[in-house]
Formats: sequence, structure tokens, C-alpha cells
Amino acid sequence: MPNFAGPNELSFCHESVVPSILGPKGLLKGPYYDTRNQEPTALDGIRDHAEHSIRRRPWNRAMSVSALKYYDGLLKSTIMELLAAFTQRQREEIDISDWMSFATIDFMGRMTFSTEFGMVRAGKDSIGLRQVIFKGSIDGAVISHIPWTLPFFKWIPAGGGKALQFMFNLGNDIARKRVESPTTQRDLYHYLIDDDGLEPEKPSTSVVTTDAMLSIVAGSDTSATALSHILYFLLQRPKCLQKLQAEIDETFPKGEDTVDFSKQAEMPYLNACINEALRLYPPVMMGLQRRVPLGIREKRLGNFIIPEGTQVSAHLFSLMRDPRYFNPIPDEFWPDRWLVRDTYTLPSGQAIPSSQVLITKGIFIPFSMGSQNCAGKNVAMMEMRAMLSGVIQKFDVAVAKEYRLSSYEEKIVDMYITHRGPLPVILTAR
Ligand code: HEM
Repeated sequence: MPNFAGPNELSFCHESVVPSILGPKGLLKGPYYDTRNQEPTALDGIRDHAEHSIRRRPWNRAMSVSALKYYDGLLKSTIMELLAAFTQRQREEIDISDWMSFATIDFMGRMTFSTEFGMVRAGKDSIGLRQVIFKGSIDGAVISHIPWTLPFFKWIPAGGGKALQFMFNLGNDIARKRVESPTTQRDLYHYLIDDDGLEPEKPSTSVVTTDAMLSIVAGSDTSATALSHILYFLLQRPKCLQKLQAEIDETFPKGEDTVDFSKQAEMPYLNACINEALRLYPPVMMGLQRRVPLGIREKRLGNFIIPEGTQVSAHLFSLMRDPRYFNPIPDEFWPDRWLVRDTYTLPSGQAIPSSQVLITKGIFIPFSMGSQNCAGKNVAMMEMRAMLSGVIQKFDVAVAKEYRLSSYEEKIVDMYITHRGPLPVILTAR
């Protein structure tokens, strides 16, 4: 049975409904997304399928295999800076959760606009961007449930208007600089502005800037959260950390730099660790709200008949921990479930045959699915693999002495994007 998530709203944790809600022929976004109805509306707020697919085209070009090749160099330099900063601070306590944000924001700045935020070099969020994303997401998470109050919200002095204004000014400023000093670099902006002239109509600068800022917001915090969660789980399970370090050492022998991103895509245990953390704590944990259209009386969603106008969602966090779909130990970090084996060994030491291991790939959807799935999935995967490989190859990571590791999960909060607390660690060069 679905849960009643609010008036006129159902939240499902059932495999059968997922494709009908989120799949290629799924439903349109519900009123939860009304907060995105700004002028111009960013890609993630567009409901009309035809308009969305036009706006999505440049994103898809920007995430193609050949486009990703160009981002390689940008990612490499971000990781080199990160490792240099860590080398300077080794044996000191650092909050690696913060540092993951510095690195992902720097990378997104370079990849999106060829701009430098310089957070890794400064060792801090010098422009206050994280605070704005943090504050904006709290306002957004509240107001999204009462979208009819939206017209009044901008009159509240501490309301989300401030965060929006900050992002608007920052975006305009960076976009102006990017346009004034045209670059031959094939960054995301290059694709969004349609520099290759592939679209029948050029998009306006304000549309391009809005989507480019979406890349900074949607692309930095999500990846940083995932990286921080993965490191938390690896610290919680030192045997997994050792196993991952061994795989990295074997793939890149004798300290060879972990810069070959194609090799990383093929590393089974690295990818298993990433999948497992994304399964347990997808950076967007909630169900992604959609609505059964008005005027059709009712619609079949999997095994359920739902009346018109009902808001529905498939709850990502619950689905990916449900023992009907991921078994055994669905609430535990056990990367081995993603490996192909005849026999598996559970963390308890018990051996079990492959017939007792269940993963349901169709509902492993941390990046959502269908036409409105994550536009940055490929780059996010490349970034997570590369950052993890770099850090774990060069450093031994240990929990800081005074820190109670289990408190990490207590600070994880769903605000559409995930809020997370610190993860204090000590790094020692290997
Ligand atoms: C681990 C990292 C990431 C995760 C788990 C993630 C997850 C998601 C999810 C679940 C959605 C759908 C949201 C909804 O329907 O409300 C989404 C959309 C989106 N993401 Fe990501 N994301 C990640 C990284 C990125 C990166 C690196 C970028 C940019 C380079 C990005 C850009 C976008 C955009 C533009 C959309 C809107 C797509 C559309 O509406 O067509 N994401 N992401």
C-alpha cells in the first residue's frame, strides 16, 4: 500500500509503479516543483515534454563521451590541487566532508564556465556559495510543500528571495566574464550557448546562465554528499577500505597516478563502493513528486489505480533499502552485493550462494530515470571515481580521535538535496 504523504499525495515503495511515475512515458512534475517557476525557468523546472527535450539537447551533447574527454584535464587539475592541499595538511584534523564540497564546486566552476572559484586553494568557501545553497534548500524544502504561498514568500525578509538573488547575481557575473573573454574551451557553457550552431534557434543568454547555474547547484553538492558518504562508509568498514586500496594499487601500480579515467570505470570494487553508498543514501533521498494529470479520471500506476490530480512519488531512499529488492542486509554497506560471484561472504563471515543475493537494477535509481533523469550522471560518476581513487591511493584515511563516527548518520537530513554534517579525519601520506 502507498503511504499518505500529504493531502492528495501518495508516496510509493513498490517496484511496479516506478516506471509509470518516472520512466520514459512517466508523469509530469507535480506542484512541489512550482518553486522552480522563475523567469527564465531552469531545465529542472520545465514541465512541458517538448520544451524540456529541446532544452535538454545541449546537456546531452555536453555529457557525451567525446565531451567528457575535455573535462578530463579539468578534473585532473582539480584533483592534483586537492591532493596537494591534503599533503600540506596531513596529520592535521580536517573535515573531509567540507573538502569534498570545495573540490566539487571548483570542478563544476571549471567544467561549466571555465571559471575559478579557488576553494581548494583557499581551503574554504571564499564566496559563501555553500551557505547559500544550504539556506536556499531549507526554504525550498518547506515552501515546496505549500507552493500556494509562493507569491508571498518573496516579501519575507529572510525568505528564499535572498538565495535566489545571490545565485542570479553570481551567475550573471560569471557569465558576463565568460562571454567577454571568449574561450575555445569546450566547457558546458559552450554547449548550452550552442557555439557549434546545431540548434535551429540560439538560446537567450539568460536561459543559458540559468542552466549553467543549475549545473553548479545540482552538480556540486550532490557529488560532494555522495563522496562524503562513501568515505564515511569506508571508515565504518575498514576491511572495505583496505580492499578498495588494494584494487587501486593493483590497477595503478607503483604509485602511478590514478589519472586514467577509463580504467576507473572498469574497477569492480571501486564502482561497487560507489553504487552501495548511492543505494543507502542517494543524495536526493525523497520521492520525486509527479502528478496524475487532470481530465483523465484515473491512471494505472503499476498495480494501483490512482485518481486524476493526485500527487505521487516513488521514494528513492525506501525503495533502495527494501529487502524485496536488495537482499540480504539491505540496510548495511556491503559493496560485494554488486560483484559477480558464485559464493559471497557476508561481513559476519558467513558464506552464501549467489542465489541468495538479490539486487534489483531497475530500481537502483539514485540519478532518477526517464527523460528528466540526472543530466550530469556521466560526469558525476567520472568525478566520484577519480576523486576517491586519488585520495585513497595517496593517503591512509583515519577517523579523527575525538570524533564519534556513528554521529555522521545522525546529521543526514533530507532537504530535497541532502544536508550532512562534518566528517573529521586525519590523512597520512602512504
Ligand atoms: C552523485 C551525484 C548526483 C546525483 C545523485 C544526482 C541526482 C539527480 C536526480 C535524482 C535528479 C532528478 C531530480 C528530480 O527529478 O527532481 C537530477 C537531476 C539533474 N541533475 Fe543530477 N545528480 C548528481 C550530479 C549531477 C551533476 C554533476 C550535474 C551537472 C553536471 C547534475 C545536473 C543535473 C541536472 C541539470 C538535472 C535536471 C535534469 C532535467 O530536469 O532534465 N547532477 N540529478
